Amino acid sequence: MKFVIPKLPFTLSLFLSLSFLIVFFFAFPSTFLRHSLSSSSVVVADEGIRIRHHGYASYEAYIQHQLKKTQNPKLREVWTTRDWDRKVRVFSTFFRRLKERGLLSNGSKALSIGARVGQEVAALRLIGVEDSVGIDLVPRPPLVVKGDFHAQPFDAETFDFEFSNVFDHALYPEKFVGEIERTLKPGGVCVIHVSIHGKTDKYSANDLYSVKPLVNLFKRSKVVEVRKIDGFGLDTEIVFRKNV
Ligand SMILES: C[S@@+](CC[C@H](N)C(=O)[O-])C[C@H]1O[C@@H](n2cnc3c(N)ncnc32)[C@H](O)[C@@H]1O
Repeated sequence: MKFVIPKLPFTLSLFLSLSFLIVFFFAFPSTFLRHSLSSSSVVVADEGIRIRHHGYASYEAYIQHQLKKTQNPKLREVWTTRDWDRKVRVFSTFFRRLKERGLLSNGSKALSIGARVGQEVAALRLIGVEDSVGIDLVPRPPLVVKGDFHAQPFDAETFDFEFSNVFDHALYPEKFVGEIERTLKPGGVCVIHVSIHGKTDKYSANDLYSVKPLVNLFKRSKVVEVRKIDGFGLDTEIVFRKNV
């Protein structure tokens, strides 16, 4: 007996399957993207954040990887000359807006985490927040002192305001956030710039697919605002206030 598969039902079922896949992709993009990443990565904290282990043999190996770019003399020359004014200007615009909203003031003691050569600290000082400092693996006094953001070199409840656009460099996101909440004063404000689902580079240590996992890491703070921004490849600003 000849078995004939009717053409229309097959075409129809193919069409329906493809439509289902397309709808599912747009509804749950992270499901697809998670599986397309390297198998050495693991999801932590929640759906939507992935740590890139890069096969680091040790914590020191991670630090050395970060230092490779930050210590590059040619790049440091560019960051401190050609890039300087533009970056200070853009950071100043972000910080001025926070001042207008009452989230930062000239009296704030401010910290910038992962400040590299210190443009963001220069911007804070430029707009009048004089008691400002940055930390990075490589110091650049007087704007930036040496400090690992997984273990900030400051006492508890030191700062009124903390800013960072380097969350993606954290190998241990829960420590990165834990340290912010430890060193912020009660009622203090933390502003984080991240790229959701977007541009990161080979020095990034994690990938973030929504703000939810970051928000969930802040155990002692409330979200004040989440908004879209255009900040050196980062697209989202999240403002937190530590509980009193
Ligand atoms: C993408 S750069 C951002 C620099 C700066 N915030 C800016 O916008 O110009 C990331 C910075 O994070 C620093 N960094 C990476 N891991 C760190 C760690 N564990 N502790 C402190 N800083 C770290 C790097 O040295 C580098 O300067």
